[in-house]
Amino acid sequence: MKFAVFTDLHYDIIYDSERRLNELFDSFKKEAVDFIVDLGDLCHSTDKNKDIINRFKEFGVPYYFNIGNHNTDYQSVDDVLKFYELNNSYYSFVYDNFKFIVLDANYIKTPDGVEAYYRKNHFDIENTAYKEILHPYLPKSELEWLENEIRNDKYYYIIFSHQSLTNGFMNRGVSNREEVRKLLEKRNERSKKVLLCMNGHDHGDDVKLINGIYYYTLNSASYIWQCIKETYNYSDEIHAKYPYLKDMILYEEALHAIVTIDENANISIKGIDGSYQNIEPENIGMPNIWNGISIKPKTSSLIIKSCN
Ligand SMILES: [Fe+2]
Ligand SMILES: [Fe+2]
Repeated sequence: MKFAVFTDLHYDIIYDSERRLNELFDSFKKEAVDFIVDLGDLCHSTDKNKDIINRFKEFGVPYYFNIGNHNTDYQSVDDVLKFYELNNSYYSFVYDNFKFIVLDANYIKTPDGVEAYYRKNHFDIENTAYKEILHPYLPKSELEWLENEIRNDKYYYIIFSHQSLTNGFMNRGVSNREEVRKLLEKRNERSKKVLLCMNGHDHGDDVKLINGIYYYTLNSASYIWQCIKETYNYSDEIHAKYPYLKDMILYEEALHAIVTIDENANISIKGIDGSYQNIEPENIGMPNIWNGISIKPKTSSLIIKSCN
């Protein structure tokens, strides 16, 4: 079994996103993948962007979308689900002896309860008197669903989420990530079946092994960071005029990874050694660590033996 995984293309805010999408589909074809996984922040849910969804359909293998925090920048969760043709924002699917779980941590917990993250609501909540809000957050009902989903010993499990289950930097990771990891570890005490968790969102590259489970943060297919709001929705013309886009470091390649699983449930992740397109972090005095992880232009390769 072989699948491709990519994340954080941010189609609407990258001047060469169409070229990146072409590069991704070229790779999917060359690798003859069985299915495709997007870890979130793909594009806004507009009529025009239906063309992107149609490309996945036309490619002819199954595809599985994760909802990222930026998917609901301008649309409600219901509209986003409709756009991506998903019945639910968290779900699972099975290939051979592997079950793949897609989590949705785009929730905000306040002292009043839990609600789905939607940029507009989030700002409203931040402006209230609440001292503490938790976001991203995996609600109790979803944790219970997850516990049930990974119960069966006949499967191995790979877990996908947009936000990290390990990163503690500046509230980027899932806020109750330790609770989630404990649940996975508790399940593995019976027999080790949860082998790997993969996430996007941090626009960097990272691999951690914690209590027998690998946590892989997949780098963005587009860029490292962006801090000036005015550059949202910039056009080709603007990019031609300002080729360095000072607030954004672009990766040249549409970074992604190809994951192959053999008949003994050993997992091989083939990453990409890429390059920066415009400026390098050190040119502007940035370290090679951002959002708590490496921003080298790559996606790590990794071998995971199921019996380890
Ligand atoms: Fe992102
Ligand atoms: Fe994100």
